[in-house]
Amino acid sequence: MSVIIIGGTSGIGLELAKKYLGKTNSLIILGRSEDKFPQIKNELANDSTNIICKRVDVTNTDESQNTLREIITNYSDLDLVVYSSGFYKPNNTFDVDLDLYRKTIEVNFMGLINVMSIILPYLKKQQKGHIAMISSLAGFFGLPNSSGYGPSKAAMMNYSESIYNDCKKNNIYVSIINPGFVKTRLTDQNKFEMPFLMSAEKAANIIYNGLEKKKYDITFPFMMSFIFKTLRILPKPIFLFLIKYMVQTNN
Ligand SMILES: NC(=O)c1ccc[n+]([C@@H]2O[C@H](COP(=O)([O-])OP(=O)(O)OC[C@H]3O[C@@H](n4cnc5c(N)ncnc54)[C@H](OP(=O)(O)O)[C@@H]3O)[C@@H](O)[C@H]2O)c1
Repeated sequence: MSVIIIGGTSGIGLELAKKYLGKTNSLIILGRSEDKFPQIKNELANDSTNIICKRVDVTNTDESQNTLREIITNYSDLDLVVYSSGFYKPNNTFDVDLDLYRKTIEVNFMGLINVMSIILPYLKKQQKGHIAMISSLAGFFGLPNSSGYGPSKAAMMNYSESIYNDCKKNNIYVSIINPGFVKTRLTDQNKFEMPFLMSAEKAANIIYNGLEKKKYDITFPFMMSFIFKTLRILPKPIFLFLIKYMVQTNN
């Protein structure tokens, strides 16, 4: 039994990795930060789980595909693949930074597809498995200051819905994870007050419990999930009016 966490070198991915210690034979952690591998292996050292760290930049198609092919060859019987790699930088509506938009889509969405191009055919052959991808509440609708990040996360949500039934037919579960604010290096960039901010450890607990239940939709914290799901069904003019008062913009 093997678990792969792509983007497991820090934040939510790393905390989630810890939840699988002692519960899987192989725990494979992927990310670009090779310098962190010795420390991660040390921190996660466990008698019954083999920790494997491998470098991958998900924006590089060849590197992603070759690394995943190698993993599949060496650690078959794949139970769970979590896509936690993510890039976020706040952006300005009128000062359009093309590189920022391109990088956000490349990491958050195209990176996922690079990974899935190897994982999906393999899980189909296996006729079992579980794919989980970390999107965000920011993907529910267009939020001010989030015109780069939000669309990349909305793309992940749409993609997960799109593959859900084909995967189900082949005994593969799909989960979409939509956290609110979690304290990591990603949110450390935010200069505004983040409501319901929680630790990465707490987020990992919620995600782990949802994944154990094979839930499709793992959206949290509860209050933000409730507010966002309500805002989503409002008529657009009412939504756009309300959001103006709920989120401050820099423009
Ligand atoms: N923190 C929040 O409030 C929050 C809320 C909603 C959703 N999320 C989502 O949760 C996920 C995890 O984020 P986090 O908050 O835990 O931030 P984080 O600590 O910055 O973790 C991001 C992870 O993505 C990996 N990554 C980034 N670029 C990569 C690339 N090109 N190739 C491979 N891996 C890459 C990083 O590893 P390397 O640097 O080693 O490559 C790291 O392991 C992201 O998808 C994020 O969008 C976070």
